[in-house]
Amino acid sequence: MGIAPPFTIDSVVVGRSARMRAVFDFVRVIADSDSSVLVTGETGTGKEMVANLIHQSSSRRHKPFMPVSCAILSETLIESELFGHERGAFTGAIKDRPGRFELAQGGTIFLDDIDDVPMSMQVKLLRVLQNRMIERLGGTRQIPIDVRVITGSKRDLRQLVAEAKFRDDLFYRLNVIPINLPPLRERREDIPILIDYFIKRYFRQRSEEPRGVSPAVMQAFMRYPWPGNVRELENACERIAQTCTCDTVRVGCIPVSVLFHKYAEDQEPIIETHAHPSAVSLDDRLREVESNLISWALKVSAGNKSKAAELLNIKRSTLGDRIKKLGLGHLEAAEQ
Ligand SMILES: Nc1ncnc2c1ncn2[C@@H]1O[C@H](COP(=O)(O)OP(=O)(O)OP(=O)(O)O)[C@@H](O)[C@H]1O
Ligand SMILES: [Mg+2]
Repeated sequence: MGIAPPFTIDSVVVGRSARMRAVFDFVRVIADSDSSVLVTGETGTGKEMVANLIHQSSSRRHKPFMPVSCAILSETLIESELFGHERGAFTGAIKDRPGRFELAQGGTIFLDDIDDVPMSMQVKLLRVLQNRMIERLGGTRQIPIDVRVITGSKRDLRQLVAEAKFRDDLFYRLNVIPINLPPLRERREDIPILIDYFIKRYFRQRSEEPRGVSPAVMQAFMRYPWPGNVRELENACERIAQTCTCDTVRVGCIPVSVLFHKYAEDQEPIIETHAHPSAVSLDDRLREVESNLISWALKVSAGNKSKAAELLNIKRSTLGDRIKKLGLGHLEAAEQ
């Protein structure tokens, strides 16, 4: 069970799409209830952030918020992590240790990746949720717990129940209040403010002045399908802050994976235009346009120079010269 990093106070859940606004409204309504919440959504959609938002909006906010990822680790480890253990409960248990439920006393526990919890552990969890009591591994004492339970799942638990991989009784207990977070590609209106938020944050973190992004960068970000959702967008912004030295973030500063991907291939290439043309020489601008078009053509034709030349309506040898001149050799396929 991976121990989640501590939640930073400056974390803000950003969103202005109708679907995220509906989530925020709903969170406000259900914050103070003690019912279990099941947050579903693809990886990186912000399940943990929303769980934290629920906690921060509730009267439990002065008590701990305890995120735990249930993915990967063995059953004994999950059990000891959640419920704690007494000295000698297993090899390596050299002293008594409270589990996450006890540590979250009075607050909220967020069990992420609940879909990865093995069947045998599901029974134990169900018992805890029914009795509101835990017993440490190797212990006999029943410890009452007052903890709100929020779970996170990237898979559809209903489906897992149908496949007999998840207990239906536990599912109903967890799914009292369901919240679904839409993937970023279904709420593209959130992309501009997320960019703004992360770019500011990561440039500030480097003690640098935050800067704007060019319209072409915005276009590329709006076009990209973001399979890794907000986390992927956040990582892209962090990388930009580490590498970009321009006044305005330009297409050349964003990860190529965002600029070139299979969904962009049948679309026109993204061309940078400059709001203040005088700041950039004509030669530089032409080089940039040329470089973008050639990169696009090579990408679309999987590095095949003949096909790329055809797309650009120039001779193959001319293309070869320009690739050399512009230093784009890495985009060529090995000699065909
Ligand atoms: N609406 C949002 N506003 C600001 N940051 C966000 C938002 N949604 C997600 N993030 C950021 O994206 C990253 C992933 O969010 P989070 O860990 O909550 O996602 P998750 O759905 O729990 O992902 P996983 O399924 O991988 O566990 C975090 O760094 C978080 O700060
Ligand atoms: Mg998570």
